[in-house]
Amino acid sequence: MNATILGDGFPCKPASSVTSHDFFFDGLKNEGNAKNSLGSSVTKGNVMAFPGLNTQGISMNRIDIDIGGINPPHSHPRAAEIGVVIQGHVKVGLITTENLEYSRLMLPGQIYVVPRGLVHFQLNVGQDKAFIVSAFNSHMPRTYVDGVDLFCAKPFVPYDVLTKTFHSDQSVLDNIYKAFPDSKCSSFSSVG
Ligand code: GLV
Ligand code: MN
Repeated sequence: MNATILGDGFPCKPASSVTSHDFFFDGLKNEGNAKNSLGSSVTKGNVMAFPGLNTQGISMNRIDIDIGGINPPHSHPRAAEIGVVIQGHVKVGLITTENLEYSRLMLPGQIYVVPRGLVHFQLNVGQDKAFIVSAFNSHMPRTYVDGVDLFCAKPFVPYDVLTKTFHSDQSVLDNIYKAFPDSKCSSFSSVG
């Protein structure tokens, strides 16, 4: 699709240029590469990858988590998420706007829901790899990796914003910045 994304979608294609590629998508069939510092991989089946989703308000991801790995706390500003554990033992948790944490060990076949915009995570607590399929009520749910976004933002979030927010002095923040060089930040930043 040769189009630029608008606020919440692409312009529709003329019917004459629609192909089967627009309605079928193989992108979630292969295991993602979770050999990274988090031990996890999210493969996105959003409208960027799967054009037939345009304007439909739905999309789907595949999450692979290595033993001990985590899909770190993150949120989707545009969508609620429903997920099913296909393989593995996964601790799934979410945090409400009242700072209440709800988490549970989830086994294959069990499903969870994360209301729109809430922070959530998936931690592999089993002895095998884990595999989850998640779905969204947006064709482009977008993702914030919470906390990390404050240290990976460019230009940098002003120091006094961070020192006041975290009740910390600059040296504490410098240490956190060291943990997020550009090479690490780029592994967190992904559209969709
Ligand atoms: C899982 O939380 C995902 O965002 O796909
Ligand atoms: Mn999510």
